[in-house]
Amino acid sequence: MRDGVFEAPGRINLIGEHTDYNDGFVLPIALPHVVRVTAARRDDDVLRVESRQADGVAELRLAHLAPGVVTGWVAYVAGVVWALREEGHPIGGFGLVVDGNVPLGAGLSSSAALESATALAVTELSGVSLDRRSLARIAQRAENDFVGMPCGIMDQSASLLARERHALLLDTRTMATEHIPFDLAPDGLALLVVDTKAPHRLVDGEYAARRRDCHRAAELLSVPALRDLDSPDQDLPDRLARRVRHVVAENARVLAVAELLRGGRIREIGPLLTASHTSLRDDYEVTVPELDVAVDAVVAAGALGARMTGGGFGGCVISLVEDTAVEACTAAVKAAFAENGFAAPDCWTATASSGARRADLVPTTTV
Ligand code: GLA
Repeated sequence: MRDGVFEAPGRINLIGEHTDYNDGFVLPIALPHVVRVTAARRDDDVLRVESRQADGVAELRLAHLAPGVVTGWVAYVAGVVWALREEGHPIGGFGLVVDGNVPLGAGLSSSAALESATALAVTELSGVSLDRRSLARIAQRAENDFVGMPCGIMDQSASLLARERHALLLDTRTMATEHIPFDLAPDGLALLVVDTKAPHRLVDGEYAARRRDCHRAAELLSVPALRDLDSPDQDLPDRLARRVRHVVAENARVLAVAELLRGGRIREIGPLLTASHTSLRDDYEVTVPELDVAVDAVVAAGALGARMTGGGFGGCVISLVEDTAVEACTAAVKAAFAENGFAAPDCWTATASSGARRADLVPTTTV
């Protein structure tokens, strides 16, 4: 087959922030919002990319793809083709049209969704068979080595591996997964998302700095990764001690939340979500006032728990709320933002949706 349509979702991480590059656990869900890539193989050696959300067309010769030669959103697409070819996969010319509704710059992983949809499209249409974990690794390599963002493996894994009405428990060291039921409506609950619209500041530099802190701490403590520590309290210089405390405690919180969800005790995860936010604010120092105000406002308005999600420095807050409290929590956040002179936030509720898929084929069998 020469052409097809592929969709990959953005994600929200329920808990397990900044644990993935420490070999730890994460617990994301896929969003209903997707990036859609309409792809057609070409007979020449040109990668042609355009987007319904941006002006212009990029035409790149495959042989010229190299880190640093492409910038902007096209780099996420070109980087995936580059990474596949670097690893010896026979990917030829392609025409790709990108579309989608994952909010951009909101920390919901629109870039991982773009990478994942591209990886699925060009491999499937080229007859290259790679499992989803390998595609996630290719997408991460594109982002690390081609785009130059030293991210972990969570976002790409969520986009490629998540399932509808389930959260994805992922051990980022072994890539072992467990799909844990996460369906809030039958319990009268909702996941309220507050997109704070806070402008991302210094995101990449600060992210890389946190990674360096963790790496340095692991070196000083002589462990392969912070995941290998049993105790959050370690004898280290203050800043490193706080980074370690966040990572070790956060990893334990992921496992505690997973256990509660397995037992159907969803309401009880609330305090763990809020504890995660406090730790990200005070120990890991990746929040901004908009995130802290949003968490405080929804918790004061009756949310069971709330935290920032994603890398931080802007982006979204998630909160677990009784469905009867969605309106009150939304109103409380809007009022608090107005009071603080922040831009108006976007508030909506999210459900756990399915991972990347081909979207133009009608299934011939039902399961
Ligand atoms: C970003 C990165 C992920 C992860 C989160 C923080 O989303 O892309 O790999 O590190 O930040 O949990």
